[in-house]
Formats: sequence, C-alpha cells, structure tokens
Amino acid sequence: MMTEIMNGREAIIKGAMLIKKGEVVAFPTETVYGLGANALDESAVLKIFEAKGRPQDNPLIVHVASFDAIEELVEEIDDNARRVIEAFMPGPITVIMRKKDIIPDSVTAGLKNVGIRMPMSEIAREFIKECGCPIAAPSANRSTHISPTSAKHVFNDMNGRIPLIIEGGSSNVGIESTIIDMTREIPTILRPGAITESMLLNVLGKVMTFKGKVISVAPAPGMKYRHYAPKCDTVVAENAFSARSGYDGAKEKGHAPVIIARKRDAYGDRNVIELGESDEDVCRNIYGALHDAEEKYDYIITEDFGEEGVCGSVMNRVNKASGGKRI
Ligand code: TXA
Ligand code: MG
Repeated sequence: MMTEIMNGREAIIKGAMLIKKGEVVAFPTETVYGLGANALDESAVLKIFEAKGRPQDNPLIVHVASFDAIEELVEEIDDNARRVIEAFMPGPITVIMRKKDIIPDSVTAGLKNVGIRMPMSEIAREFIKECGCPIAAPSANRSTHISPTSAKHVFNDMNGRIPLIIEGGSSNVGIESTIIDMTREIPTILRPGAITESMLLNVLGKVMTFKGKVISVAPAPGMKYRHYAPKCDTVVAENAFSARSGYDGAKEKGHAPVIIARKRDAYGDRNVIELGESDEDVCRNIYGALHDAEEKYDYIITEDFGEEGVCGSVMNRVNKASGGKRI
C-alpha cells in the first residue's frame, strides 16, 4: 500500500472519504498525531490494531468534534465530568465515562468505559466533522515506539501500512493528553499530560493523582506495556556534571552520544539537541528530539526536567523511554 501525505482541504476530503470506506487515516492533533478509524465500525477499528501492531486488550480513545457528539456516546455526564469538559475541552484531555452500547467492544477492549477527547487542533476537528462519525484513534506510532509529533514521524513508522497521512505541521503540545477517569469515586488521573493535576483540582476539588512511579491506583491499561521507547539506549542525567561525564565516557567507548537539554550552555562542544527554556518548549519538543536523536546517535542522555507542572508529565514519558535508567 502506498502511503500518501497530503495537506489542506483536499487532505481532509480525501481522509473523510477513506474513513467512510472503513479505512485508517493518520491525522494531526495538538498532542500527537492519531491513527483514526470510524469508532462505530468494528472492522475499521480492528485495522487500527493491525496497522499499529497493538495488543487488542489496550483500549482506544474516541475523538469528537462537538459537545453534542459526547452525549451520543456516553450513558451519563455527571456534574464533575461536565465541569472538566467545560473547562478543558476542546483541549489536551481525555475524559473516561460509562459508554453506551453503540460503541463496539473492540474500541474499549471490552471495558464498560470509554475515553472521550475533543482536540483543540482545528484540522483535527474539521477532519472529524467531515467524517461525520466519532473517530477512534491511538497515537500514530508502531506499538511501543515514540509517539509522532510530525507527519514525517508518522511516515517513518507507518509507511506502507496506511493509505493517508493528513499533514498538520508540528504538534503544539507535544505529549499525549491527560487521561482522567470520571467513573471512580474520586476522579483519577490515569496519565499525566498538559492539563496538570493542579488545573484539574481547580475545577474538581479532589482528584487522585498519578505521580511518576508511585502508582496508588490501577493505571491506564496501556501503562503495563513498554512505551515511548527510542531504538537506542536512553538515560536520564541527575545534573549537568553527570551528563557530561556520561557523554564523555560513552564517546571513549566508541559510541555516538547526544544530550537532550533545555539549552546547550553547560555542555561545551558536545552534541546537544536543544528543547528551549520554557516548560512548554520542553513538552512541545521532547518527542521530536527523541526521534532525531535515535536517527543520528546511539546513546541518548536527557536532562532531568523536574516535576513542576507539565514537566512532571514530560518526565513520566522520559522515565519510560529510559526504562528508569539514571546516571
Ligand atoms: O493525546 C492523545 O491522547 C492521543 C491523540 C491521538 O488523541 N492519543 C493517544 O492514544 O495517546 P493511545 O492509544 O496511544 O493512548 C491512550 C491510552 C492508552 O494507554 C489506553 O490504555 C488508555 O488511554 N485508555 C483508553 N481508553 C481507556 C479506557 N476506557 N479506560 C482506561 N484507559 C483507557
Ligand atoms: Mg500511544
């Protein structure tokens, strides 16, 4: 199968036509690119799992373009869920609620609950509207690889496996949506993201948080799988000194190391991929940096970006990419 990359209105029309025929199409969102299919068409949904090489016990998020569409998919939107939806949708958040029967079991991997997301990205919403159906979509990477934040990342993973990638530039947020489960007694964050726990606390008053490695509640089903893994060895450096000595040691052994850092100042003439100084820059650029790093180098050292706000969510991903290895 030829994989086309298209942009503009033409891409949306073509993508929607493919979706209506039961095909799978990659599309941009503000978090990461998604691999979409008609969420109400069981056989189309199965093609997502096939293209991604994803285990079928890992549920998919359902994407919508309007508030009315949410009502058609879930049994009930309780007061708390409504608060979260009104405060953060459209945006980088997925809200888990009790599903209606109209959603096939293959979407939710047999769970009674479904994750609903309304992207901020205009292209994503225009695409979903044009499809005229809710769109089930995981991140558009091969299972276990790093999520894609550009059409090129998608192409590198999915070339030959899907007919179309809708081009939408670089994802502005850069990591996957925050997932909050509203079906539990206390609303529970299953995956941290750009909507942080303190932002959620503002509208809910009480949330169960997901903190780094300390898992106090059952995490999202997908969390048990290896995730976000670059193709080469990846470690987190405690500080600039350990990054420099890890780099120099690797170089002496004949490796091609690189440091992923906010800025290059502390690293002399070593190879550095800069993310930018603000927390938002770090979040926006981390996956692109990991993609670039694994293409050009064979040993990745990343700074520890701390646990404040969105950096806590970034470190959740970086710690997975490194398998918890620190130097
Ligand atoms: O930002 C995002 O959320 C992106 C874009 C494309 O929207 N999507 C995304 O999907 O990251 P995916 O499939 O790569 O990650 C979704 C995670 C998985 O870990 C899955 O287990 C969890 O959400 N999940 C989905 N539905 C769930 C449900 N009903 N209950 C609990 N966890 C669920
Ligand atoms: Mg994913």
